[in-house]
Amino acid sequence: MKQELVQIHSFECLTAEILELTFISEYLSTHAQPGQFVNIRVDNNFPLLRRPFSIFNIDENKVSIVFNVIGTGTKVLARKRKGDTIDVVGPCGNDFLSLADDSFDTAVFVGGGIGIAPFPFLTKRYPAGKEIITYVGGRQKELIVEKGLKNAKIATDDGSMGFHGTVLELIKNDFSTNAPKNPRFFLCGPNRMMKVVAEFAKEIGATCYASLECDMACGIGLCQGCNIEMVTGDKKYRLVCKEGTIFETQSVKFS
Ligand SMILES: Cc1cc2nc3c(=O)[nH]c(=O)nc-3n(C[C@H](O)[C@H](O)[C@H](O)COP(=O)(O)OP(=O)(O)OC[C@H]3O[C@@H](n4cnc5c(N)ncnc54)[C@H](O)[C@@H]3O)c2cc1C
Ligand code: FES
Repeated sequence: MKQELVQIHSFECLTAEILELTFISEYLSTHAQPGQFVNIRVDNNFPLLRRPFSIFNIDENKVSIVFNVIGTGTKVLARKRKGDTIDVVGPCGNDFLSLADDSFDTAVFVGGGIGIAPFPFLTKRYPAGKEIITYVGGRQKELIVEKGLKNAKIATDDGSMGFHGTVLELIKNDFSTNAPKNPRFFLCGPNRMMKVVAEFAKEIGATCYASLECDMACGIGLCQGCNIEMVTGDKKYRLVCKEGTIFETQSVKFS
């Protein structure tokens, strides 16, 4: 992991609400793995705290993140322009590929809203020979990103795109008619969504990994502010930023 000032290469609007920001980093493009995140200080003055963003894609020496403009940090980020610099620390956290063993046939990626962010990079780097199905859930179509996803199936709460309902309802529907062979689940998004999908995975006997959502101050294991309670293993708490963000879902207590 290292801190560097990187130059913004481009911005792209993926939907009416979601932006892709691409910057140049030789270091990250050679060291980052799918599921890891970068911690960005969006401005020299304000806000002081870095904001974590999943790595969305890596193409040669270019690294992308995606975000929707929610509050202080993302408003500042959205005002940046090509050629501006941002201060980035990364790659942070663990990654999906080194955690999962090979004993499954179908990778089922499930992303809630901007939680799809790690899956294009994971799709790109996924070992050949595995089936991939990607479920994407969101409140409405403006929050749905399909770029870089494979076999994407969409669910929206308001029915403006794809299945009308929750992503869990869509998964249950699909699995009741055409269950994928020997699935393994990989989740990212709001914890409440991941909790119910993890329960479904448990019911059908599938292993499930989730990239957990939490507020982070330092993002590198120093402030102890991102504890998650464990239900298995030798430690009662683990740090999401350093020992995660990805955990096997039966090992953690979802908040
Ligand atoms: C490991 C990790 C990876 C992440 N990856 C991404 C990513 O790829 N893309 C991305 O856009 N964000 C991602 N986030 C969230 C991101 O770090 C910021 O929290 C988010 O972008 C809002 O930052 P902000 O400074 O604009 O909002 P803030 O000023 O910090 O918050 C403004 C208000 O928005 C609320 N808020 C904050 N986040 C959310 C949210 N996600 N949904 C609804 N309300 C919210 C806050 O509670 C607050 O009330 C990630 C977070 C973590 C921990
Ligand atoms: S955010 Fe500081 S230890 Fe995890």
